Amino acid sequence: MRQFVLAANWKMNKTPVETAAFFQTFLSGFSPSPGRQTVFFVPALDITTAIGATNGRGVGIGTQNIHFEKKGAFTGENSAEAAKAAGCEWTLVGHSERRSLFGETDLITAKKMKLALECGLKPMLCVGESLDERTAGETMKVVERQLTVGLEAMTAADWASVTIAYEPVWAIGTGKVATPEQASEVHTAIRAWLERRAGAEVAAAMPILYGGSAKPENFREIASQKNIDGFLVGGASLEADSFLKFCAW
Ligand code: PGA
Repeated sequence: MRQFVLAANWKMNKTPVETAAFFQTFLSGFSPSPGRQTVFFVPALDITTAIGATNGRGVGIGTQNIHFEKKGAFTGENSAEAAKAAGCEWTLVGHSERRSLFGETDLITAKKMKLALECGLKPMLCVGESLDERTAGETMKVVERQLTVGLEAMTAADWASVTIAYEPVWAIGTGKVATPEQASEVHTAIRAWLERRAGAEVAAAMPILYGGSAKPENFREIASQKNIDGFLVGGASLEADSFLKFCAW
């Protein structure tokens, strides 16, 4: 049976002191459960604090971005190898803010996916259409292109370490959550794409998360739909009590 994954994306929020305070509150209300994974994608400068605070408590820590080269003259970038050595288990790849604000192309996401796996990190590939693309009826065309290129180099051995997050760009940080039907329609199409690309077994085991204005008040209805295997939560993950509501569900 596939895992249900609850992932927090803190974006560029929280200092190390605020990170420590968050985990003190969060861990007092959190208990891990079988079949579930809980992950925090924290800012690079908070990774050491997050790993120290959560050691042995059943949550994973991830970086929000890696560079696609292992090391070298890339001032200001995050090394996948260093993230792994610091204790990260996960990394986000291709978040829409990376794509739209920092010029991350599908080809770059493909290189990052490959390097993450090579360095022993579990990559979560983010895909999703803009409002214009949805309005033009191109949602699946865009999502399939992002999947096809981003996952091009995956081999049979890689799939078990990969997770996919569907995040419609128009829903991220806007308060405009996708309807349960809209989310389920795309998740079902992603699973069908995976079945064609990698076979029924890989498709059945792949967690596909929804992200985009998921909140304690709206996630249950989305979660009850077919093919929704968790959430990538931005704004509503910044307060421990709010994110605990997702984890307690
Ligand atoms: P949001 O962000 O929950 O604040 O919309 C989600 C994300 O960007 O991953």
